[in-house]
Amino acid sequence: MTTAYASAPGKIILFGEHAVVYGRPALAVPVTQVHVDVEVRDSVRSGIWIDAPDVNLHAELNTLPSDHPLASVIHNFLFLSRQFSSPAGRGDRGEGHFPDLNIKISSTIPVASGLGSGAAVTVALTRALSSHLQYPMSDDEINAFTYEIEKLHHGTPSGIDNTVVTYARPVYFIKGHPIETFKVDHPFTIVIGDTGISAPTKESVGDVRKLWEADKAKWEKVFDQVGEVVITARMCIENGKWELLGDLMNANHELLQKMTVSSPELDTLISVARKAGALGAKMSGGGRGGNMIALATPEMAETVSRALKEAGAHHTVITTISSSI
Ligand code: MEV
Repeated sequence: MTTAYASAPGKIILFGEHAVVYGRPALAVPVTQVHVDVEVRDSVRSGIWIDAPDVNLHAELNTLPSDHPLASVIHNFLFLSRQFSSPAGRGDRGEGHFPDLNIKISSTIPVASGLGSGAAVTVALTRALSSHLQYPMSDDEINAFTYEIEKLHHGTPSGIDNTVVTYARPVYFIKGHPIETFKVDHPFTIVIGDTGISAPTKESVGDVRKLWEADKAKWEKVFDQVGEVVITARMCIENGKWELLGDLMNANHELLQKMTVSSPELDTLISVARKAGALGAKMSGGGRGGNMIALATPEMAETVSRALKEAGAHHTVITTISSSI
């Protein structure tokens, strides 16, 4: 009996979240210290059995609501690959033979924390299914499929999460443009601090949309400012200008505060990181909770991480950003 395994990393947005939904560039990198791992094998029981202990889920596929995030990935994959079932996943099992499978999903990426857990689950699960059911998919196909799933659950995603998680490379991302990975010749250190507050991206993205709809001219200007920060940040990363990169993180955070997507807990961790010696800090991802990031020299990273934990961060990760992540 064969078993297929697949894994996908978490991600952080370094610069440009939210404005990226409105066509401005953003920079994101994978975080391999956190990941989703999926195992798919044939089952002797009939049905598709899902075991996801991290979210306390042990169920047969057809007992889940069709809009359940895991069910929607599996149904859409089966529909795409062999017409095994309807995409809605209810009743109609189509022409083909429905496979009997055991699927085990484990994750070290906290849910709704800005670290890309949704995209990572879809990418790892799709890769494992595609390998086990012998329906080969290229990275481009996995990315496009994951974007469709993101749209089902997140309303109007830019596509940055699925892109960075699928290719597991640093990306300079503009919505609708071809994928542009970028080289990091000078590695740098980021400390990630988790507020422990889960905050669905869909809500913060929806709230920014309401602001934008009420005064497009005002918010387009703010998004332009974010775009300029991102372009300068890319140059700083390429040239190893860390002091300026830190200042740009602070500037990006202020613009995110204006968009109302920060929170008191994020602001506290950000100011603690700066006081502990970080060169700059900002929230990362959807905001309102989830994670913040701080740029630190390799020597200061442990001190910043300790200060974040003392100030209430649920956990911290120190990650080195380089091209070979
Ligand atoms: C979420 O990781 C990043 C946001 O910009 C939403 C998106 O780009 O889809 C907040």
